[in-house]
Amino acid sequence: MRPLQSRSSAPPPVSRANIQHGRAKPAALPVVAPVVAIVGATGAVGVELLRCLEKRRFPLAGLRLLASARSAGKTMKFGGDELVVEELNEQSFEGVGIALFSAGGAIARQYAPIAVRAGAVVVDNSSAYRMDADVPLVIPEINPETIARHHGIIANPNCCAIVAIVPLWPIHRKNRIARLIVATYQAASGAGAAAMEELSESTRAYLAGRNYAQRVLPHPYAFNLFSHNTRIDPRTGYNDEETKVVNETRKIFGDPDIRVSATCIRVPVLRAHSIAVNFECERPISPDEVRAILAGAPGVRVVDDIEKNYFPMPRDATGEDDILVGRIRRDLSDPSGKSIALFAVGDQLLKGAALNAVQIAERVLEGQASTESIPQM
Ligand SMILES: NC(=O)c1ccc[n+]([C@@H]2O[C@H](COP(=O)([O-])OP(=O)(O)OC[C@H]3O[C@@H](n4cnc5c(N)ncnc54)[C@H](OP(=O)(O)O)[C@@H]3O)[C@@H](O)[C@H]2O)c1
Repeated sequence: MRPLQSRSSAPPPVSRANIQHGRAKPAALPVVAPVVAIVGATGAVGVELLRCLEKRRFPLAGLRLLASARSAGKTMKFGGDELVVEELNEQSFEGVGIALFSAGGAIARQYAPIAVRAGAVVVDNSSAYRMDADVPLVIPEINPETIARHHGIIANPNCCAIVAIVPLWPIHRKNRIARLIVATYQAASGAGAAAMEELSESTRAYLAGRNYAQRVLPHPYAFNLFSHNTRIDPRTGYNDEETKVVNETRKIFGDPDIRVSATCIRVPVLRAHSIAVNFECERPISPDEVRAILAGAPGVRVVDDIEKNYFPMPRDATGEDDILVGRIRRDLSDPSGKSIALFAVGDQLLKGAALNAVQIAERVLEGQASTESIPQM
């Protein structure tokens, strides 16, 4: 096995013994620990990818941290060791088994094919490949079976789509959701580490009565909110974030006929996206039925205390793996009894990005283990 961080200078490489932990949950079959590369390791999602690998005791033969030239030589902590960040280049993927990409669409389009040619399975957080017909778009709680169809690249869905539809899937399976309307309240972290910094700095400036020149987001952010800062399709009037929610929900549910509308708004919250959800099922459904379904749903926690008026909040969802769901009530605008309103909040850096990607990588390893266990004819 190639040594970890072999091209780095300062700290010694992390040994395989140091970081090969085994798994939090015992795997059904023994998995072969891969060398993992994180592309965009220094970013808001990248930092969480590192934490998830460590927390979930992802089996590792090596870990390679890649970012731009700006970060080359920086160190990041992993399992008590300091790993050196390397500049991404075309040779970065030699010996890599799984490459977790989190550096935007342009980098993914340029380097994911190179990683695949080098033998890696790529899990990409950007939107570059999500709607490609031969790229699985995966939420492990919903469509894990699609992973096996990959040709080297697996896409991680849009963060709002994940937060909104993880709780809806078990409902959809029991009583098909025919129509879905969401309104998002998206945190700064959804736009990366620099946007979080901009929210903090502009808030400090506002409170001190100083002017602040926006650098990352297009509008004043402190004590303000604005429509999501992506391109608007002049034909539909929907911005790119809204279009992603619409299209990705259909692809992940494997239901091209589900009618979806979204309004995506950036709010001055540091971390965790909140989403107001209204959906209409094919048959009548009650709030109690929804609560009962969600009580056993993987990746979901019901927070719905009507007496205390305590419902999901970004503060409570921050750092949590589960999507918090509450305000579950009949949608009074639909007298047929088929419609429900609820409020979902999830840490989009975790379940909306890093955690979901690591869960996909775990399934890839399990799939490889089961393929290798098939006796040769
Ligand atoms: N934030 C979220 O909630 C979220 C959720 C789902 C998906 N995503 C997707 O995940 C990706 C990363 O988002 P983020 O929020 O983590 O962004 P971010 O905080 O801005 O981080 C971007 C990362 O990409 C690296 N990078 C930039 N240019 C590069 C280059 N030329 N070569 C190599 N690395 C380069 C950066 O390295 P340097 O530090 O060296 O600049 C940094 O590590 C994006 O595709 C985003 O759409 C984000």
